[in-house]
Amino acid sequence: MANLEEWEDFLKVRYPENGQPGAPGFQATDPNKKQEQFRNYETDARPSVREFYRLNHRHQTYDFVQAKRKEFLSLSRRQMSIWEALDYLNTLVDESDPDTDLSQLDHLLQTAEQIRRDGHPRWFILTGLIHDLGKILCLYGEPQWAVVGDTFPVGCAYSEKIVFHQFFADNPDSRVPRYQSRTGAYSEGCGLEHVCLSWGHDEYLYQVVKDYLPQEALYMVRYHSFYPAHREGEYQHLMSAEDKKMFAWVRAFNPYDLYTKSHERPEVEKLRPFYDELIRQYFPATLRW
Ligand SMILES: [Fe+2]
Repeated sequence: MANLEEWEDFLKVRYPENGQPGAPGFQATDPNKKQEQFRNYETDARPSVREFYRLNHRHQTYDFVQAKRKEFLSLSRRQMSIWEALDYLNTLVDESDPDTDLSQLDHLLQTAEQIRRDGHPRWFILTGLIHDLGKILCLYGEPQWAVVGDTFPVGCAYSEKIVFHQFFADNPDSRVPRYQSRTGAYSEGCGLEHVCLSWGHDEYLYQVVKDYLPQEALYMVRYHSFYPAHREGEYQHLMSAEDKKMFAWVRAFNPYDLYTKSHERPEVEKLRPFYDELIRQYFPATLRW
């Protein structure tokens, strides 16, 4: 993809703000039209997005995820404060997107500011600010398909509701029977903490911040790209009662993630004191990345 936002643009087509196919309240203009007919977002997707999902579904195997966890979760690459990480992420420039002249930091501040305007708790605002910091994986040279994109469990059957499901045919795990049963490498109701999702920026950031934020915030960070679960309602059989309860927060966060981007550039210097204090309230001076 030309840039990371292309994937998120695609998500907005797939999950439009006012009712998506299959959601309660979704009204088809033509009542005789079946839900499936609305799912043509795959055929309409840009070739680059299609190629992105082809690579993602081909290469995100159970073993690949284990290897990436080993590679990155020792958190021994850098010591940075939250602001340093924000500045670092901001060096990720989207040269080729004519639609946006906003930086990664602008996007994150827009998300946080909308959460703040809606009167949510301070930890919720902070989550808006930091939730995509795991995208610094791109700056370590990781390919996009191993940083962004919808996440899904590896090591068990792929939900048919995962977009571009057909590309899983090229994933070597699809020929491993023990990875293709309903629970696969896991067990009924085992809880998502025991389930490996495809590797990306959610899990990486979760591991960086897990000692510092309330559970609700950690669920938002860790599962905000897990669209098959939080938007499609899949994989309930792997969730614990606690997961099911906490997913209400993941769903509460999602609209801010997807729909708050605007062309208005936030005034960083004016906002900085508020966010400095907020960061100090929850985080130590530096964190391990
Ligand atoms: Fe994200």
